[in-house]
Amino acid sequence: MSQELKEKVIIVTGAASGIGLASAKRIAAAGAKLIASDISEEAGQALVNEIRDQGGEATFVRADVGVETEVAKLVDAAVAAYGRLDGAFNNAGIVQCGKPLHELTTEEWDRALRIDLTGVFWCIKYEVLAMLETGGGAIVNTASSLGQVAIANASEYVAAKHGVMGLTRAAAADYGALGVRVNAILPGIIETPVIESLSQNEQFAAFLIKLRDRHPIGRFGQPSEIGEAATWLLSPAASFVNGATVPVDGGYLAI
Ligand code: NAI
Repeated sequence: MSQELKEKVIIVTGAASGIGLASAKRIAAAGAKLIASDISEEAGQALVNEIRDQGGEATFVRADVGVETEVAKLVDAAVAAYGRLDGAFNNAGIVQCGKPLHELTTEEWDRALRIDLTGVFWCIKYEVLAMLETGGGAIVNTASSLGQVAIANASEYVAAKHGVMGLTRAAAADYGALGVRVNAILPGIIETPVIESLSQNEQFAAFLIKLRDRHPIGRFGQPSEIGEAATWLLSPAASFVNGATVPVDGGYLAI
């Protein structure tokens, strides 16, 4: 495998499962010094052990992206471990849905927005501060197809992911000239544990079948397919890509 991220110090949040797990492995295999972060310590540490066993470089740092002080400490830990920060894949998130807007409580709304949007804001803020110390870097945020279009019964998630799109573009405008590129990936439905657990619900399972037909490629995506896009956007090969919101969705947003 090519070493397109050789020696780059890169944080991946939500690294213990699904998209983050596959992306963290890909990013480490591309030669990066990985800081894998998640609230799930056991799975995060297992990932780091696996990467080290294969000769890669990785450290696990537990951080809840919904808590500002923990995000700040995560970035500090990366800099303490490796002396700099070159990239970040801000991917941690929850897929909260199932109710029409008028049934949502303020607590449910706040939780979704705090983890899926404010968490990305805090990540960008502290990552940029570290990256500017050493001349720049690259940030990739996980948005969603639902950052661009909506589905029913997911207003808090749709609003949060639309917010990630705006935040990505705004941060690209703020920091492009300072050497930090900021982009977002918009995954279609990806076969990860969260989708598997949601599909235990009969209604959601029926909805998923309809959604599959809306992916022109005829299937859902694999976490590794997002990892490929993230690796590219983090790498010098994407040096003129800034403020982009990149669908990796089998064509979901094309029709
Ligand atoms: P997943 O549930 O398999 O993995 C999410 C990871 O994030 C877990 O390891 C979890 O422990 C961690 N996490 C959750 N809350 C956290 C917090 N407060 N702080 C730190 N870590 C936390 O889910 P998946 O599918 O891999 O999702 C990853 C991202 O992709 C999310 O942002 C999700 O919204 C987004 N996405 C997923 C799609 C899908 O179809 N699976 C489609 C579009 C976007």
